Amino acid sequence: MAVQAGSLSLAMSDEHEMLLVAVREFAQREIVPVAAEYDESGEFPLDTVRKMGEMGLMGIETPEEYGGAGMDTLAYVLTMIEIAKADASHSTILSVNNSLYCKGILKFGTERQKREWIRPVASGAEIGAYSLTEPMSGSDASNMASRAILNDAGTHYIINGRKNWVTSAPFADRIVLFSMTAAEAGHRGITAFLIDSKAPGFSRGKTEPKLGIRASATSEIIFDDYACPVEQVLGGVGQGFKIAMTVLDAGRIGIAAQALGIAEAAYAAALSYARERHAFGAPIGSYQMIQQKIADMKTRIAAGRALIYQAILAKQRAEQHGGRYTTEASMAKLFCSEAAAFVTDEALQIHGGMGYSKELPLERYYRDARITRIYEGTSEIQRMVIARNELGLR
Ligand code: CAA
Repeated sequence: MAVQAGSLSLAMSDEHEMLLVAVREFAQREIVPVAAEYDESGEFPLDTVRKMGEMGLMGIETPEEYGGAGMDTLAYVLTMIEIAKADASHSTILSVNNSLYCKGILKFGTERQKREWIRPVASGAEIGAYSLTEPMSGSDASNMASRAILNDAGTHYIINGRKNWVTSAPFADRIVLFSMTAAEAGHRGITAFLIDSKAPGFSRGKTEPKLGIRASATSEIIFDDYACPVEQVLGGVGQGFKIAMTVLDAGRIGIAAQALGIAEAAYAAALSYARERHAFGAPIGSYQMIQQKIADMKTRIAAGRALIYQAILAKQRAEQHGGRYTTEASMAKLFCSEAAAFVTDEALQIHGGMGYSKELPLERYYRDARITRIYEGTSEIQRMVIARNELGLR
């Protein structure tokens, strides 16, 4: 595979090929056999998560000196696709460690913060989380009620408030938290903090009972006079909103890859079924109504993959020459998440009653795909971001 944009190109190296084969083999051998069971129980799959860590999959883009694998965004995307094909919950947990947690610290952290806070999570020894959302602010992310107030001695921020929809929170050892240090300044009053979940003043609230990605634990977190040392401010006071948005740009490419992986798994199942299942004396794939579905599914998957590769190239360009890749990341996330909804729905339909049964993974793909249109920014927010950037409105 090779994709080109200007002087930049995206090509599969031998290292990418080896990674792809190893991750595919691991996902099919270790994750596929347990995916339905974890989905049913809603248990967090710590065993397989640890194994992903041992394979170096929890910090793919993190440099080796900070405990990661030192690979690139294409490697991360290929991994997300393969893990999501096996089980979306595992890919969600993987994406938070890799992307939402490590990315912000790598880009905005001090050398000391990088050494102390990245290694345990990038190596997979510990679980990381990212906490932006609050009960009264989801899409309108800067409208926060939580407060972080500097103490008189100027040594600690005293944090109070509730955050929710925090992926991996029930098991997270470390969290990148966004909280308001100067409410009057609006989004410029938000600061990012590095939170140790074992410190006093931190607790977990309700764990969400979810429609899909049921093995990826999600809960509220509560701060009650949590004293965060000033050394654990990430990227400067008042810089939190920009950090949150920058991290989400990268994160959205990962969610696009996750959605594509789920879609590819559903498509592969539908293709086999269309060949094997007979009705009215012929394989159902010989009928034009099924052929139309196959053609539309295949085309959307291919288009989604192209948008992801375009976003990777835009990210490379921004990293080398400055600027942002927000529009490309949002387009990839928007299209792939909606393609996953379409493909999982059509794949289930091709399977008829069997698709609706828990005996096959189709209904799980269908439920799991649904979150990709919501988290890391809803489809509505992606459309808003794309249109605002195009129109030069802000
Ligand atoms: N990169 C860097 N900076 C950015 C940026 C980006 N992508 N997008 C915006 N900014 C900056 C702007 O330049 C602006 O900076 P100035 O202070 O210099 O003016 C500032 O941020 C404010 O920008 P806007 O005026 O555009 O902000 P807004 O309030 O109008 O809206 C938004 C921004 C795009 C709607 C944003 O709030 C958003 O993305 N909302 C969705 C939030 C989201 O994705 N939540 C999911 C959380 S993670 C999750 O799902 C849980 C999990 O665990 C997986």
